[in-house]
Amino acid sequence: MAGRTAEEHMAALVVVGAQWGDEGKGKVVDLVSERADMVVRYAGGANAGHTLKVDGQKLVTHLLPSGVMHPSVRCVLGAGMVIAPEVLVAEIAECEGRGLDVRARLTVSGRAHVTFPFQAAIDRASNAGPRAIGTTGRGIGPTYSDKAARLGVTLRDFCELERASARDRVAALVEVWSERARAVGVEAPTLEGTLAWAAPLAKAIAPLLGDASVAAYQAVRAGRRVVFEGAQGTLLDLDHGTYPFVTSSNTVAGGACTGAGIGPTAIDTVLGITKAYCTRVGNGAFPTELQGDEGERLREVGEEYGATTGRPRRCGWLDLPALRYAARVNGLTHLAVTKLDVLAGMETVPVCVSYRIDGRIYEDLPVDDLERAEPVYEHWEGWDASVAKARTMEDLPRAARRYLHEVETRVGVAIAIVSVGAEREATIVRREVFSR
Ligand code: GDP
Ligand code: IMO
Ligand code: MG
Repeated sequence: MAGRTAEEHMAALVVVGAQWGDEGKGKVVDLVSERADMVVRYAGGANAGHTLKVDGQKLVTHLLPSGVMHPSVRCVLGAGMVIAPEVLVAEIAECEGRGLDVRARLTVSGRAHVTFPFQAAIDRASNAGPRAIGTTGRGIGPTYSDKAARLGVTLRDFCELERASARDRVAALVEVWSERARAVGVEAPTLEGTLAWAAPLAKAIAPLLGDASVAAYQAVRAGRRVVFEGAQGTLLDLDHGTYPFVTSSNTVAGGACTGAGIGPTAIDTVLGITKAYCTRVGNGAFPTELQGDEGERLREVGEEYGATTGRPRRCGWLDLPALRYAARVNGLTHLAVTKLDVLAGMETVPVCVSYRIDGRIYEDLPVDDLERAEPVYEHWEGWDASVAKARTMEDLPRAARRYLHEVETRVGVAIAIVSVGAEREATIVRREVFSR
């Protein structure tokens, strides 16, 4: 090893959703965290719901990184996140209740922005009507809007409310939101009420504050294995998703750089997670969506109900142009395919291989024209037997292997992981995702 630079030992992995969220990022991040030293969340907030199933126990993480179940993994929340303090405190308490010591190994960026209850209330109040996005109602859009408008309150300010300049920032935000609340008919916040709500939460969070960028940088430089855990999915990205039906952050792999505060040269692997089919929660284009019994079957067999809101997820067939799009905008080096078990028992499986608009075929996702785009399907051979017990590729029926082979060939990215059930061990690991 002598003579090698630290850079040659870098092993930073970004995990991103390659569809519209809920691809199984939590399961995969938990799995790869077995070999990781640190897991960093870099974007989004409590709109995320990442499900981990280990030894019959289920944990849904909204803010904490999904490496949390591994007691030696360091957990970091980056500056690009928006954090609802009461959710963070409750989630830490839930982990502690399960015997997981979180506080000693958690660093929360003081630069992350705070979501206040009044921002969530207005998010929920504006979630109806024909133009509604169908948000998770967690105050994500309002918090990122305030951040961009330079009105937001950072966690550092939130935790130092004895400082006049910090209190002034909260006062200014409350003032703006009182007017907005009155305009939409929800209860207007007061400064006193907000400060009283904040005090115990600030006390609980203050000892956790630190510099997330320095923590991630030092870990990467020291050659530790670091996972950057994405939330939501590529097609919900503020810049590259199906705007305006998107979330308010950069969910793509580039968001790991800005959200965690690391340079692109620190990253060597990008793992995109996709289901073997497709789902979406909330409104917006979804060309391969199924309306009738077939969609109902995927929803029931796949238990497709939101981990954060409980909403039924819209279900449809796998969309290869969308995956090629995700491969491009994220620079995917590997794929993980989840929920292969859900497709068992079908004679043939329709897969969208291209799009047709006005008689013309598009191999690339017509992301700005999805409402008009008509999916072109191929019907691939299905498989009867359950794949839930498969632990190697050889355990899979030939048609299931061929399905995966076609996906990786047509997307042009190798499949490293195949998930055949929600539990940690219900997985086929084909190749190592860390570069060392
Ligand atoms: P995330 O937001 O990307 O972390 O995904 P969610 O946790 O919101 O949704 C994925 C759901 O699928 C969860 O209920 C998981 O427990 C479950 N899941 C993950 N992988 C598999 C799999 O391979 N098969 C089955 N049947 N369920 C899975
Ligand atoms: P994870 O990390 C699926 C969707 C919402 C809505 C849009 C905007 O579990 O994959 P927001 O509350 O962010 O303003 O809502 O984005 N959405 C998600 N869909 N999984 C998620 O997270 C999501 N987070 C937000 O349904 O359509
Ligand atoms: Mg989810």
